[in-house]
Amino acid sequence: MPVGGKTKVAGVMGWPVEHSLSPRLHGFWLAEHGIDGVFVPLPVKPENFADALRALPKLGFVGASVTLPHKEAALALADEVDAQARRIGAVNTLIVRPDGGVLGRNTDAFGFMESLRESAPRWRADAGAAVVLGAGGAARAVVAALLEAGVSEIRVVNRTVERARELARAMAPATKGAVVARPWAERAAALAGAALVVNTTSLGMQGQPPLDLDLAPLPATATVADIVYAPLETPLLKAARARGLAGVDGLGMLLHQGRPAFAAWFGIEPQVTPALRAAVLADRAG
Ligand code: ATR
Repeated sequence: MPVGGKTKVAGVMGWPVEHSLSPRLHGFWLAEHGIDGVFVPLPVKPENFADALRALPKLGFVGASVTLPHKEAALALADEVDAQARRIGAVNTLIVRPDGGVLGRNTDAFGFMESLRESAPRWRADAGAAVVLGAGGAARAVVAALLEAGVSEIRVVNRTVERARELARAMAPATKGAVVARPWAERAAALAGAALVVNTTSLGMQGQPPLDLDLAPLPATATVADIVYAPLETPLLKAARARGLAGVDGLGMLLHQGRPAFAAWFGIEPQVTPALRAAVLADRAG
């Protein structure tokens, strides 16, 4: 649809932002639904982020996605922040309210859970413990999602064990579920009896070393999820497949986290389909 005077505008704020898949994601949905809207990359340096956020309502934007390194600044600067974003400690979606205020949300936990349910439909929250590798922002979103789903034991394994302890302290009080920290050296042992393992570290990403993890202690019914999506099949997912375990790639989380954002900005609930996956991946290959 051609851009006109009434075209709704949203974008993704990041630094750098060239590699963001969000313009392709939201652009696909805008075209699919014939919506008079555009979604543009917004390269915003850290020192300009506060001005850029405050400019969104002044420029008539409907909102914006927020990516590295701005997610924590967005939490501090939004006029209103939902409970999930506060708990995770980061905002990935900004929505301009009718009164011109900016609402901050975090849709990463939603995105992770929807992707898990889609790609591993046999996984159940009460099937056993979950192991989360890593303790950064992505780990907090995954732990929040698992607690909300009713997982009763989450083992957070991190190279810097103190960060895992901090995460456990921050997440545990509001829930019945137990979040426990484990040192990196015990990562294989932590898999014993687990129903789910999730890699939220950057290990296995293009240009990074693979995640060195022996999956042997995992039960045969376990599910293995990776939030890394470049490559789509990480060495971890390859090893899981070799053992016959269910695998969940990182692209699903990226696509599903966009759904509530798109719905808030453009008023239509979009779907994650094979055509969307193909379009987003084609963009990356090209
Ligand atoms: P994000 O917010 O995207 O999750 P992050 O805060 O940089 O990113 O977290 C990256 C995660 O990958 C951390 O858990 C990090 O471990 P530390 O907390 O010890 O830094 C983990 N990570 C990165 N490189 C690693 C490596 N070589 N070995 C083990 N863990 C690694």
